[in-house]
Amino acid sequence: DQINLNEIHDTLVAVAFQAGAKMKAAKPSALTAGTKMNAVDIVTETDQAIEALVSSILREKYPSFSFVGEETYVKGVTKVTDAPTFICDPIDGTQNFVHGFPAACISLGFTLNRKPVVGVVYNPFADVLYTGISGQGSYFTDNASLEQGKGCGEKQRLPLTGGGKLGNLSTCLVGIEFGSERDGDNFELKIETFRKLAASKRDYGAMAGAIRSQGSAALNVCAVASGVMDCYWEGGCYAWDVAAGWCILTEAGGVMVSGNPGNWKPEVDERKYLAVRGASEGQKELIEEFWALVGE
Ligand code: IPD
Repeated sequence: DQINLNEIHDTLVAVAFQAGAKMKAAKPSALTAGTKMNAVDIVTETDQAIEALVSSILREKYPSFSFVGEETYVKGVTKVTDAPTFICDPIDGTQNFVHGFPAACISLGFTLNRKPVVGVVYNPFADVLYTGISGQGSYFTDNASLEQGKGCGEKQRLPLTGGGKLGNLSTCLVGIEFGSERDGDNFELKIETFRKLAASKRDYGAMAGAIRSQGSAALNVCAVASGVMDCYWEGGCYAWDVAAGWCILTEAGGVMVSGNPGNWKPEVDERKYLAVRGASEGQKELIEEFWALVGE
């Protein structure tokens, strides 16, 4: 059977709105959230309830497709394969969510042969929706919940900023996150990368124009797809953090440089991702400058 990406997109958008309503209705607390890998890697009842809802809807509608979700992931067991696969982060930006900092979203990706071909990212607090379908472009919708069935949200093609020339790193707004891994090799790499981006050009030969951490990998990738962030790097992302945004980014002319595009194996790759926005020129040069500074 032919897989209908538009139908999958519509299903994911409808699911994202249901999830968004649950996020807005919840009263989460940083003091009662559960913990996973360490004290800052948190999970709430809402994360779990949304993932259960999303997986039951998707498994019922598409029983032969695989499902990978952050809250039911089992290391070494759960894998992204060549099969049609839904990849779900029920709440990306859980720390923001429990504090009421309004940068949290649901991130729903769909992959074929390990390539993200549909992406839906919805932030219910800002009521903005980012969507992409392979070969059909990607879009930003403001006042998105108004659109449900009525078509009255304002839908604009990405990138919002037109994708003009990229200058060198010192003219760029760069996203980078600490994430929840606070020790080990990945932590050292993040500290080193922050240091090199932040330090004066005199010290390392390059420096970032501005550095931002908004606390949601998916929203960072969507910001790069929109063109309002020039690039975003993180060491330590999982498939659910980037799958949806990756499709949205690519459809907006951007690139995911690391993470093995075309041969993505999220559970064995190094989990380092660099997203660069679409640009009329300067994309290749920025990537070269970035790797020369922080090491590929
Ligand atoms: C996390 C956020 C955070 C990023 C981490 C992610 P979660 O996702 O996106 O910004 O730095 O790498 O794990 O735990 O809130 O779903």
